[in-house]
Formats: sequence, C-alpha cells, structure tokens
Amino acid sequence: MLLTEAHRKLDRKKAAKPPVPAGDKRLVILDTFMKRQQFRGDALIEVLHKAQELFGFLDDGLLLYVAKSLKLPPSRVYGVATFYHFFTLKPQGEHTCVVCLGTACYVKGADKIMAAIEQRAGIKSGETTPDNKLSLVTARCIGACGIAPAVVYDGAVAAKQTPAVALQSLEKLLAAPCNSKT
Ligand code: FES
Repeated sequence: MLLTEAHRKLDRKKAAKPPVPAGDKRLVILDTFMKRQQFRGDALIEVLHKAQELFGFLDDGLLLYVAKSLKLPPSRVYGVATFYHFFTLKPQGEHTCVVCLGTACYVKGADKIMAAIEQRAGIKSGETTPDNKLSLVTARCIGACGIAPAVVYDGAVAAKQTPAVALQSLEKLLAAPCNSKT
C-alpha cells in the first residue's frame, strides 16, 4: 500500500479504539507514560517505543490513540512509525502471539516459553508462518509482572505460562477463527 493511501485510510478511522480488552492494564501504563511526557508531541518517538514495549507492535488503533493523546495528525504518527525500522506495525498473521521477555517474565522462564513456541511454529520472533496463520512477537514488559511469565494470545493476556501450557494455548489459538481485534 502506498504511504499516502495508508495515511488517508488511517485518517478516516476516527472511531478506531486501542486494541485492548477490558481490564488490560497496558493502556493505563501508556497513559501514565504520556502524562509524564506532558502529552508533548515532540515525545512521539519515546511514546511509540513505550507503546511497542507494552503491546509488542503498533497497530492502527494504537497509532490513532497515540495521535489523539498527543494531539498530532494521525498521518504524522503513522509516518514516524513506518519510517523507523525499529517499530513493528501490526503483524500479518491471522493470529498473534506476544511473548513478554521483560525481566520479571524472563527470570520465570519466558525464554523457554519462547523457544517452545518458536520450535512448534517453525518461526522466530518477529516472523509470520508461511501460511499466514501466526505471527510471533516479543514485548518488553506488558505491565503484568505480578502474573509473570505472561503471554498475550490475540490480545488476551494469559498468566503464569509454562512451555507446556503455552503450547496448549497456541493449539487452541490456531484452531480458533481469525481474531481481527489485534
Ligand atoms: S516483565 Fe513481563 S509483564 Fe512485566
């Protein structure tokens, strides 16, 4: 898609909401971070970093939310997110699995969970399976350290995961119809 088309599409989505289910604390953490930056537009890159750290990737709903909060045109936010290689936009897979590799999750075995999922899916973090079924993403603290290690399956945060539990959840995820929320 041409960037200008993408900008227009994004500008039209005025009613889009951030991709979080009720009770998801990630948006509260992002709000607190933006508040600390006094909702300054020139803090955009830091805010996008924080958003990606929390969600694993930046999809349209999240970009619009940031644009609205910082009072910036969505096209500017989208432009920055697509310009820098370190930002990841919404993965292409029908389903998305975000493994938190923040410190609290890591010390409780998140690396083993990631290894098990990578082996099962045959892809590495940041990749999508060739059949487009699954995208695997890494986050650095999703704000759920109390239930570490945490994994987010199609936007739903799952607590205290183990490699075996994660693989079971993954099978269920892949068997479920496509979830377009994330
Ligand atoms: S480190 Fe994983 S939720 Fe905080």
